[in-house]
Formats: sequence, structure tokens, C-alpha cells
Amino acid sequence: MTAHIIDGVALGTAIRHEVAEEAARLKARGLVPGLAVVLIGEDPASRAYVGSKEKACREAGMHSVKITRPAATTEAELLAIVDQLNQDPAIHGILVQLPLPQHINTEKVLHRVDPRKDVDGFHPVNVGKMVSGDPTALRPCTPWGVIQMLLRSGIETRGAHAVVLGRSTIVGKPMASLLIQTGPGGDATVTVCHSKTRDLPAVCRSADILIAAIGKPEFVKRDMVRPGAVVIDVGINRVDDPSLPKGYRLTGDVAYAECVEVASAISPVPGGVGPMTIAMLMANTLQAMQQRT
Ligand code: GUN
Repeated sequence: MTAHIIDGVALGTAIRHEVAEEAARLKARGLVPGLAVVLIGEDPASRAYVGSKEKACREAGMHSVKITRPAATTEAELLAIVDQLNQDPAIHGILVQLPLPQHINTEKVLHRVDPRKDVDGFHPVNVGKMVSGDPTALRPCTPWGVIQMLLRSGIETRGAHAVVLGRSTIVGKPMASLLIQTGPGGDATVTVCHSKTRDLPAVCRSADILIAAIGKPEFVKRDMVRPGAVVIDVGINRVDDPSLPKGYRLTGDVAYAECVEVASAISPVPGGVGPMTIAMLMANTLQAMQQRT
């Protein structure tokens, strides 16, 4: 069997077009959704992500503000930036790019963001709303993007056994929470695996839908995928490759070349979940604005 390749670029582009259309309708009423992205430090990967978020904003006809500060920025200074953005009526969404420098308490900063502007969906108010099935929840972009990917690819989650590999706060936990919600894109039976899981390959093999989010390059091997299963790869890992000009290549958490031969559908890296995450950030910014007006 050769798997259907789930095209995250195409699906993400479709979502961004939908958001742009809605933004254009709002513009006619004098309303422009605004997103602020805050980047502390010089991490090259974070800079690249922030750059693509800004570009996506412009393309969607949204107002975008990028605030960059050096790694030596204090926690108090960052909290003051968040306070100011919380007060700014032109800003409907705030994203503080992670990871933050060691000397800053990440939780304190994320909890300072007005939950109505929390387009990352990391504030406890939004986590609580998501878990309790409140549709006004702002949901974390990556797992929410995976749900959209499944929905728009016609992959049935209802009654399916979904195995989530990884229990991070950003992906694994919210992923499981979304998959057990009632309704389209939910109604799955969910197992969450992590480093302490006994016989992890066997649990993975029992999945109808296997979602890998553990941050280990090519961890999921062919023998962990049941023939005909759907495989979603959330990982983005930099692996040294001196043969390339950049000196590295990007690879997912799934050994793609071998798993593509057994899965019925699979998302590639790059070009899978990554573009969905950015699309959902745009969608969340629009949602945040619509819930304020
Ligand atoms: N860094 C990596 N992923 C994310 C994300 O989803 N949100 C934020 N704010 N930072 C990130």
C-alpha cells in the first residue's frame, strides 16, 4: 500500500484564504484583526517561525506587530510588554514565542496574556474551556491544526483509536483533549503514550490514527504502524547533515520513507502540520476578534 500524502501546505492555504475572505468582509465594516508576536532573544528557528507568522498575517490582510527584544530582557520588561498589548485595542491576538530565555518564568508570562487575546490557547482559562467543550475556547494552534487536517482529509475520528505519542502541554495534552470532544474531528478513543509507557510499539500498533509529537527524529518505525493506519507527524527536528549547504535537514518524528509504505495516509515533514499551525494562528486571531465585537 502507498499512503495518501496529506498536503499541509494546500490545506493550510485553503484555511488562510477563508480567513482572508472573512478579514476582507470585516474590513468593509472598518474592523481589522490584529496580531502581536513577541520574540525574546536570537534563536534562529524562532526568528524563522516569527517571520512566517508575520508574512501570513500580511497575506490575510491582518494588522501585524512584531516586537523583538534581546535575550537579556528581564521578566518585568516582558510582562510590561504583555500588559501594554493587553490594553491595545488594535491587537486581538498576542503570541509570545517560546522557548523564552531561562531567567524568565514562562508560566508567569503566558498567564499574564489576556485570555481573550490568547491565540496560543495556553492560558488556563482557554485550557479549561477547551477541556469542557466550550466553543469560545481559543485552542492551541498545532493540535487544532491536526484536527482540521483530519477533518479536511475526510479521516473519520469517531470511534477510531487515536494514539498520541507525547504528553507535552503544547501538543500532546491538548491533542488528546480535542480528540475526545463530542462532534466532528472528535469522538475518538484516545491513548496518550510517553516515556514511561510499557510496550510503546505495541500501543502504537493498535492505533487507527497515530499522532507523533515527541520531538525525537524518526522515532516511529514501520513496525509501530498498523497497515492502513493514518500517521500524523508533528515533529520538526533539526538533524546534522554536512552534505547540505545549511549543515542540517529537517525531519519529523516518523521514519517517513518506511512508514509511507504501510500507512493509508501520512503527513510529511516539512509540508504537513507546520503550515497548519500558522493557518490556525490566523484563524484564532480572527476568532478572538469576532468574540470581542
Ligand atoms: N514555539 C514552538 N511552538 C510554539 C507555539 O505553538 N506557540 C508559541 N508561542 N511558541 C512556540
